[in-house]
Amino acid sequence: MVKSDSPFASPFFLGNTTPFTVVSAYTLLSQDAVSQFREIIWQYYRTHRREMAWRDITDPYAILVSEVMLQQTQVARVTTKYPEFMATFPDFSSLAAAPLEDVLRVWQGMGYNRRAKMLRDAAGQVMTQFNGQLPKTPEELVTLPGIGPATAGSIAAFAYSAPVVFIETNIRRVFIHFFFPEEEKVHDDQILPLVRQTLDETNPREWYYALMDYGAMLKQGVKNPNRRSHGYTVQATFEGSDRQIRGQILRYLLDNGPSPTDVVISACGKESERTQKIIQKMMDECLVSQVFGCLRIA
Ligand code: ADE
Repeated sequence: MVKSDSPFASPFFLGNTTPFTVVSAYTLLSQDAVSQFREIIWQYYRTHRREMAWRDITDPYAILVSEVMLQQTQVARVTTKYPEFMATFPDFSSLAAAPLEDVLRVWQGMGYNRRAKMLRDAAGQVMTQFNGQLPKTPEELVTLPGIGPATAGSIAAFAYSAPVVFIETNIRRVFIHFFFPEEEKVHDDQILPLVRQTLDETNPREWYYALMDYGAMLKQGVKNPNRRSHGYTVQATFEGSDRQIRGQILRYLLDNGPSPTDVVISACGKESERTQKIIQKMMDECLVSQVFGCLRIA
């Protein structure tokens, strides 16, 4: 335990409930707290490291693909899809040149199909604007479609072992668990300074794998720490959701080719007005297009 005579006398955190309790919005951790925290994470990792096909590789393209897949899809499903995707589109140029239909076909089963289009478009942008080389900095990476700060950070860490500071769902869980054991509505702004202070700069790539593995383990507990994060929302059930209808529409078009819009709508078996709105949104996103009342993959 970190010792202190007066926990509030120092600008350094000197915890009073657990070694890591944060007592103010921006807290400097003591060196002891940093070391203890790192040791816990590393120790867990030494015995529980998860092997994944996209770990221990440094091909930026492969890492981009896996990180986009992992954004909203569980590891188990990505594990089955990733090799097929990589075999079909092995590099930036093959993905950039692929018709959307082909990309969506391989993406089937992953959900959130917009990601497939954005990934294909990101590959196009890498080819045309970055000379076929994925940029290295998070600042440049976020200029690509579908790449937000979390994905940019994870790509910089995993492809280049850059000492970047970022937060995603597993990492958030770890920090809320250790540093905010009592607090509700913990904001990422409170967590990021702690990610920065505890980052093990000797090996950012492995450090972030280790944090993610610890976070994934915490999810198995009865009290998911992320329920106490500021932006926490429960994912709506898939059955009957707009997401399900979007999936049905794409599935229909992949199976049947361009089809009269009203036939697609009726095949979905849901309220026609609702399905029409969903189709309109998919057209706005350039996932599908409509000519003479006929719907097709864009
Ligand atoms: N390993 C590499 N990237 C990962 C991710 N996004 N989630 C979990 N484990 C990972």
